[in-house]
Amino acid sequence: MNKSAAMIGAGLIGRAWTMVFARAGWTVRLYDSHPAQLANARDYIAASLAEQETAGLCDAAAAAEARIEYVSSLDDAVAGAVWVHEQLPEQLALKRDVFAQLDRIAGDDAILASSTSAIPASKFTENLTGRARCLVAHPVNPPHLIPVVELCGAPWTARATVERAHAIMTDVGQVPIVVRRELDGFILNRLQGALLTEAMRLVGEGYVSPEDLDKTIKDGLGLRWSFMGPFETIELNAPGGVADYCARYSDFYRRLAADPARPDVWEGERATRVVAALGMPLSAAERDERTRRRDRRLLALRQHKKASSRSE
Ligand SMILES: NC(=O)c1ccc[n+]([C@@H]2O[C@H](COP(=O)([O-])OP(=O)(O)OC[C@H]3O[C@@H](n4cnc5c(N)ncnc54)[C@H](O)[C@@H]3O)[C@@H](O)[C@H]2O)c1
Repeated sequence: MNKSAAMIGAGLIGRAWTMVFARAGWTVRLYDSHPAQLANARDYIAASLAEQETAGLCDAAAAAEARIEYVSSLDDAVAGAVWVHEQLPEQLALKRDVFAQLDRIAGDDAILASSTSAIPASKFTENLTGRARCLVAHPVNPPHLIPVVELCGAPWTARATVERAHAIMTDVGQVPIVVRRELDGFILNRLQGALLTEAMRLVGEGYVSPEDLDKTIKDGLGLRWSFMGPFETIELNAPGGVADYCARYSDFYRRLAADPARPDVWEGERATRVVAALGMPLSAAERDERTRRRDRRLLALRQHKKASSRSE
């Protein structure tokens, strides 16, 4: 297989995808219209690949780095690539414009993917000659440390495009899931949204402090969720499995579902209370330090998961 990828946009997501492909043996051309972003990305990638090598997530950082070319022309980036992945700002007009350009200049065998968080592919690919080869490949930040990626085509995306995208994502070590038809928020953000909306309500209405709510996830539900999903979890929470769980707890969940958090938890009085309860916002330096700490912990967790899945 031709293992050549083009990454369009060198921000948070573009630089992370670049590392995912390069460490898996692909050659990658990383494009951005802002030269400073390319320079920042180069420094970030060098430091991060070295850390990933130490943690066992990248076999040879220097070789991976050597497979990356930083380019300031879209044509140069796309030439010869079979995987073209857009990660520009979340603006519909920009995605429409760049996908029209990509469809004109990319080779016939190239898949055109977008990292968009929330814009369905049908909104920016409808009028393209090559619309059957376009889809969303939505990562979680940062994709070099969190492997799941949501693949979601428009109604006209070819099944073969989704299958090839699935194979490529698996080849580079990610964990693809297929969203079978377009819906707002895809899957991951709908799940996250349900949990966050309830969290805003519980803190905003004074049932619990934000610190205790965070503990409920990181020292409770999240411990299991880091290696088993919610369905795998409830299978073990009733002696007769999921059907038994539904029978035992349906009344309880029906009561909860009849009293949902209201959409207005995200604004007004409740939101103000949540923000006040969380205290002063972080300074830029504190935010950078916390981001680095998050990434170190994620790296350690990936190492642990890799080792424990080998020993199972
Ligand atoms: N950050 C996240 O948590 C996250 C997670 C999943 C998906 N996404 C999606 O990924 C995409 C990119 O997000 P990000 O966080 O990397 O953004 P970012 O702001 O970090 O990066 C965007 C990059 O695009 C470049 N750029 C802007 N306009 C350009 C143009 N016209 N031509 C070429 N380059 C241009 C900028 O210089 C910048 O480097 C968005 O669609 C976003 O919704 C983001």
